[in-house]
Amino acid sequence: MKKLSTAELLFRSARQLSLNPVWITPLGVFEITVDGELHYIDLAHSPLNGDIGVALAKNKYVSRRIFERHHLQNIPFMLPLSQSDAKEFLKLHHKIIAKPVSGAGAKDIHIITEISQLDVLEIDKYILEKHITGKELRYLLLNGNIVGVHQSEYGDSVAEDRPLRRISFSKETWDPALLKSSVEIAKILNLNFAAIDYLIDNSGKAFILEVNTMPGFKWFHAPSIGPVVNIATLFMQSIIDSVRFEKSLIKHPFVSDLKNVNIGLIG
Ligand SMILES: Nc1ncnc2c1ncn2[C@@H]1O[C@H](COP(=O)(O)OP(=O)(O)O)[C@@H](O)[C@H]1O
Ligand SMILES: [Mg+2]
Repeated sequence: MKKLSTAELLFRSARQLSLNPVWITPLGVFEITVDGELHYIDLAHSPLNGDIGVALAKNKYVSRRIFERHHLQNIPFMLPLSQSDAKEFLKLHHKIIAKPVSGAGAKDIHIITEISQLDVLEIDKYILEKHITGKELRYLLLNGNIVGVHQSEYGDSVAEDRPLRRISFSKETWDPALLKSSVEIAKILNLNFAAIDYLIDNSGKAFILEVNTMPGFKWFHAPSIGPVVNIATLFMQSIIDSVRFEKSLIKHPFVSDLKNVNIGLIG
């Protein structure tokens, strides 16, 4: 059975919550009605997060610099200015990853073990990282709490269309150290909604892989195995709460200037 997309899952939840959703573009932007007022949901704009948090997380170099400043579990990395920088980094780590500084969806990812593989890359478009061999975990955070933990099994491939198996873990097995660091990372980047991805090496050591500010919902609703996390309803409920919170602020005489509070909605 085909899995529903993030937009479809959210639209369905909006309908269940009696928000009268209407598509504005097919399976893209849709309108909802909260307390008689129209609002628009556009997933391309990471509802629930502010612009700066989204920008910091999207740039893999900026996020690594921030993790470094906070002594978080960083993967050794380099922003190469030249081929010779990149070659030095490969010599040091033997097996490295090159990925676009602001990439997404596992596009244009290269595992590099030979100097000749670097020569063909326009090196200043990439961030380099030490290759971590192990498993990949995703901690899903909403409003300061972890609501789901998944393992992504991709095999050895880093191709965009690689097969994926997603294991959802029940609460008792979530790692307290990773719960803590995920909450901390979201706080540092000022994100209300995020998937914090980790690589766990074969000795059990955790490294932050990346932070996604609008992770897809479909695997949380239909994991290969393990508990379902109804993230669409939690997310939609949070949007309603934000709309009502913003309204209550604007009504307040002392904070009536705060009309621009960013809740990630157009409306
Ligand atoms: N340092 C690394 N070590 C091992 N694998 C990596 C590393 N960085 C990325 N990968 C692989 O490449 C994939 C995509 O990298 P990621 O940083 O998640 O970028 P994207 O934003 O494209 O999802 C990951 O899911 C993982 O399989
Ligand atoms: Mg990723």
